[in-house]
Amino acid sequence: MLSQQTIDTVKSTAPFLKKHGKEITSRMYEIMFTNYPEVRKQFDMSAQANGSQPAKLATAVYSYATQIDNLSALKPMVEQIAHRHVQTDVLPNQYPVVGKCLLQAMKDVLGEAATDEVMGAWTEAYGLLSEVFIQRENQIYNQ
Ligand code: HEM
Repeated sequence: MLSQQTIDTVKSTAPFLKKHGKEITSRMYEIMFTNYPEVRKQFDMSAQANGSQPAKLATAVYSYATQIDNLSALKPMVEQIAHRHVQTDVLPNQYPVVGKCLLQAMKDVLGEAATDEVMGAWTEAYGLLSEVFIQRENQIYNQ
């Protein structure tokens, strides 16, 4: 469970995420593919080059920020992403890597707006979203 303060802090970043989402996710992939080149093989690199994958991730992160207190509204989105993750062999132990890269990218793009409070709230929020995906993906893998 997230505290009300964490929820409020994450929600307060939504307008910024709407505006700079793709910048953040493009930066995230840049960090990830540089530091963890082994994950490249799971991705369709043409979707990176044409920006469609960073755009999809940005939409997902923004949707999460706006609906963080109403996770049931995200069910269709989670379903689609979880199935794609299973198709591409995403495993639970990869979530911390993506989280680290995403949070670093947020920090880079937010600049001074990346206060300890904002980064702390997003660290918690990412943890919760990871759990949602990991749980659903486990079910799909075991079907
Ligand atoms: C909470 C964290 C995550 C979010 C919000 C997220 C979001 C997304 C979204 C929106 C898509 C596109 C789905 C579609 O095409 O319909 C996607 C695909 C994908 N994600 Fe994630 N993801 C997360 C974690 C991860 C992790 C941990 C990995 C592991 C490396 C990963 C690897 C992938 C791959 C390989 C694809 C397919 C990309 C392609 O088709 O090229 N994701 N993810």
